[in-house]
Amino acid sequence: MGAAAKPLVVGNWKMNLDFVEAVHLGQQIGVMLKNRPAEHAEIVVAPPFVDLRSVASIVASERIAMSVGAQHVNMNENGAHTGEVSTAMLKRLNVEWVLVGHSERRAMYAMDDAAVAATLQAVVRSGLKAVLCVGENNDVRQGQGHEQFVQAQLESALADLDPRHHEQVTVAYEPIWAIGTGVTASSEQIHSMTAHIRSVLGRLGLTASRVLYGGSVNAENARTIVLEGGVDGFLVGGASLKAESFMTIVQACDDCYAGKR
Ligand code: PGA
Repeated sequence: MGAAAKPLVVGNWKMNLDFVEAVHLGQQIGVMLKNRPAEHAEIVVAPPFVDLRSVASIVASERIAMSVGAQHVNMNENGAHTGEVSTAMLKRLNVEWVLVGHSERRAMYAMDDAAVAATLQAVVRSGLKAVLCVGENNDVRQGQGHEQFVQAQLESALADLDPRHHEQVTVAYEPIWAIGTGVTASSEQIHSMTAHIRSVLGRLGLTASRVLYGGSVNAENARTIVLEGGVDGFLVGGASLKAESFMTIVQACDDCYAGKR
């Protein structure tokens, strides 16, 4: 675990679960949290846009101890952006978090570094909290360019951020070769990259930001990664779609923070 930051576990549901299924999963997580509350870990779920209202409603009405995030947002305030959603629309739904620059958006939806930086600015200026996603692909890793690559992504996204927004930023290190592949980065790889990210963040003035890991995190490997990887939590894709595996990951972070290693 990194500096004494509270762990954060974010479930990225991607393009899975319609609103009925999303409510069901939210309720299951709620029941499990009532039976065994997470004393320290903070929990966020990021459903598809069309599920946000339903999930936010049950989180409020059933007083579930978690927050709701969006997987993306448009960088503009409003206007002619067919198919897009604004920060103000998210805030009206009590959404508190937004994933910014997920590698799938960077790779498949033309989100370049400039768009990532502009989106991050829009998110934090609106008062929302951001999970900035960074990470290298397999070629870059094989060529030993991963530290430089991630550093460039961080600098491009964060260099112009007003210091008063620093607290709203969490970074998720997600090596692309580990996302949805079942191949998790090793504890050593995660440890050295999270240390590198922390030093870059320190130079940029973001000394308090949490650093998460994402990429094939599951109920079996979460405990080891949190103990050995120097992370402040996880961004979880596939394993966040089942309440049991997601809550096992939450519990691993919670136990670790509580020192029950
Ligand atoms: P995964 O996805 O856990 O399914 O590898 C992580 C992510 O893309 O955020």
